Amino acid sequence: MASVAPNDLSSLWMPFTDNRYFKANPRLMVAAQDMHYTTAVGRRVLDGTAGLWCVNAGHGREPIVKAIQQQAAVLDYAPTFQLGHPLAFQLASRVAGIMPEGLDRIFFTNSGSESVDTALKIALAYWRAKGQGQRIRLIGRERGYHGTGFGGISVGGIVTNRRTFGTGLPGTDHLPHTHDPARNAFSKGQPAHGADFADRLEAMIALHGPDTIAAVIIEPVAGSTGVLVPPVGYLERLRAITAHHGILLIFDEVITGFGRIGAATAAERFGVTPDIICLAKGLTNAAVPMGAVAAARHVYDAIVDAPGDVPGIELFHGY
Ligand SMILES: Cc1ncc(COP(=O)(O)O)c(C=O)c1O
Repeated sequence: MASVAPNDLSSLWMPFTDNRYFKANPRLMVAAQDMHYTTAVGRRVLDGTAGLWCVNAGHGREPIVKAIQQQAAVLDYAPTFQLGHPLAFQLASRVAGIMPEGLDRIFFTNSGSESVDTALKIALAYWRAKGQGQRIRLIGRERGYHGTGFGGISVGGIVTNRRTFGTGLPGTDHLPHTHDPARNAFSKGQPAHGADFADRLEAMIALHGPDTIAAVIIEPVAGSTGVLVPPVGYLERLRAITAHHGILLIFDEVITGFGRIGAATAAERFGVTPDIICLAKGLTNAAVPMGAVAAARHVYDAIVDAPGDVPGIELFHGY
């Protein structure tokens, strides 16, 4: 067995990090409480972004720490395929209780990336269950970040995240982003101009045919290439166009969920209800890796009530 010194940083391959630089200049956090981290050299650092937008309730919250300790002692793990445990059902009901009306079917995952890929698969499964399996196109948006699964990078709009990894899912397309400083410089709150960016979806629908498109996925407020607040009327317009053509609308609320923008969801905050919402991060205050997908009841019913390819399991997906 190789012996590794406790302060040897070489074994860990760090995600989204300049590994060589980091290992020469390590920045190690060793503790956190409330709004602050403590570094390895004892400095207090204000956690201005709440981790990676995930520690919504602050660090070191006693009820969260206790809940994790207690549950690990009582039932640390139970399989989730064909078995369950009561708290998962209770949590699903509680999450459903803060989702917009009707989005009360909850599928749990372990991260935001998994929530996104789950939502995309649910959209495809929905159309297949409805006898419209030709609806396979998934539309994302430029500058969008939907995690690092193959589905998420395919609908995402950040080139560095995908150019190394092949062609991605076939049949994806991308709406324009809404960052428009020429018209919206110095906006406060939602920019006044830009609802018309949603009309590009009509052009895409005309190009591809509405009956080939399964879903449109966007972050209601994009957060990874600058915080892009939706222009006034933009989300409403996207909802109207998708509803008109029977296309599912997915909001990726991995960073906007759980109070991040002043309501339980951005859907509630902006008064626009999608068919599916992706969640993670604030769901557990990031203390446990976990995500969720909230689906409208009609989406769940279509898949679960369909005869299916193989009797017994309606959706061949899970983590
Ligand atoms: C909008 C959005 N979707 C998905 C993800 C991916 O979540 P995770 O890092 O938990 O996989 C992120 C992460 O920041 C995100 O901002």
